[in-house]
Amino acid sequence: MVIQDGRIDQIGPATRIDNLISARGARVIEAEGRVVMPGFVDSHTHLVCGPPRLDDYEKRIGGASYQQIAAEGGGIQWTMNAVRKTRAADLEVQARRTLSHMARCGTTTVEAKSGYGYDARAELRLLSVAAALRDGDVEVVPTYLGAHVVPPNFKGTPDEFVDTVGKRFVPRVASLGVARFADVYCDVGAFTLQQARRYLLEAKASGFQLKVHANQFSNIGAVQLATALGAFSADHLEHAGEAEIRALAESDTVATLLPGSVFHLGLTKYAPARALIEGGAAVALATDFNPGSSPTWSMPMILSLACTQMRMTPAEAIVAATFNGACALGMQAKIGSLEVGKWADFLMLEVPDYREIPYHFGGNLVAMTVKRGRTIARQMESE
Ligand code: NIG
Ligand code: FE
Repeated sequence: MVIQDGRIDQIGPATRIDNLISARGARVIEAEGRVVMPGFVDSHTHLVCGPPRLDDYEKRIGGASYQQIAAEGGGIQWTMNAVRKTRAADLEVQARRTLSHMARCGTTTVEAKSGYGYDARAELRLLSVAAALRDGDVEVVPTYLGAHVVPPNFKGTPDEFVDTVGKRFVPRVASLGVARFADVYCDVGAFTLQQARRYLLEAKASGFQLKVHANQFSNIGAVQLATALGAFSADHLEHAGEAEIRALAESDTVATLLPGSVFHLGLTKYAPARALIEGGAAVALATDFNPGSSPTWSMPMILSLACTQMRMTPAEAIVAATFNGACALGMQAKIGSLEVGKWADFLMLEVPDYREIPYHFGGNLVAMTVKRGRTIARQMESE
């Protein structure tokens, strides 16, 4: 590649690139014998989320389920309370630490959801932390997750909460232009199909593009809601069946799979990746980084889970974690692959064969991460 002003100016075999005038005098990054590939696009994370949920973790190890723990005061509501007590500056420090772990694992673009605020003000606080992160090395794309769970102050009156969010919070967040996407958690224990539809319609009317947490624990029709409303992605999909696969295949909605949450919750039912791919759906992979169900920042680990547990091939997993992730964010014209005119977002790995990325699970083979032509993480012995 020849990189100029952060973008890919030329790409091709070394014999051609070496002889280009534009390559003369360039600073050379030696990559012989190493895989160079597009930076990971982590298109689903709850990046700004406060402290880890270690008591939940131990309770689950003891046999309690994610839903039981949530019903007993843990879960998302616990994080909502913890976030309320954490200063914005501290939330930012935590998120920056996570972003630097992500960069070291090869991620160059991260979607970041709100979702741990009681009300519009609290959500805007989280979104302003996400906005502050935009000056960092990794590109952050904020999403307004205005309907995650019913906050404690609306307990027992979820419809009232959805009304308030739809009529007051959504237009307010939209008017500030702090998030491009709106997301909803549509499942048993969160929001019903009708509530999710009401929220998404208001969000769409306010100019948001849509995403849906769909079919994570049950099948209540969230996938069809997402495809009918033209959502950019339907995420999770562990409980998607044939009808859902067909709906996704026939739509432009990306099927974003999050095997980290299945793994961390100690569950065994992964999303039907093979059937989705063979059925013609576009499959993306993301970490779902969050303190409850998937506290990992490692896209290479997600690739290992995708290949070993969901039987995606290493090549399919890499496409899902780069180009298809970019599609899930509507950013495929600028990032997600190494092509002339796109941002020079790439990583170099210590290995000569890309199949080694998922194969060596749990480690980190990333030698160097580059964002817009600038090195943002490096761990090479030789330099
Ligand atoms: O994507 N399922 C809903 N939301 C998150 C979990 C968030 C949390 O537990 O804090 C998810 O898995
Ligand atoms: Fe999520």
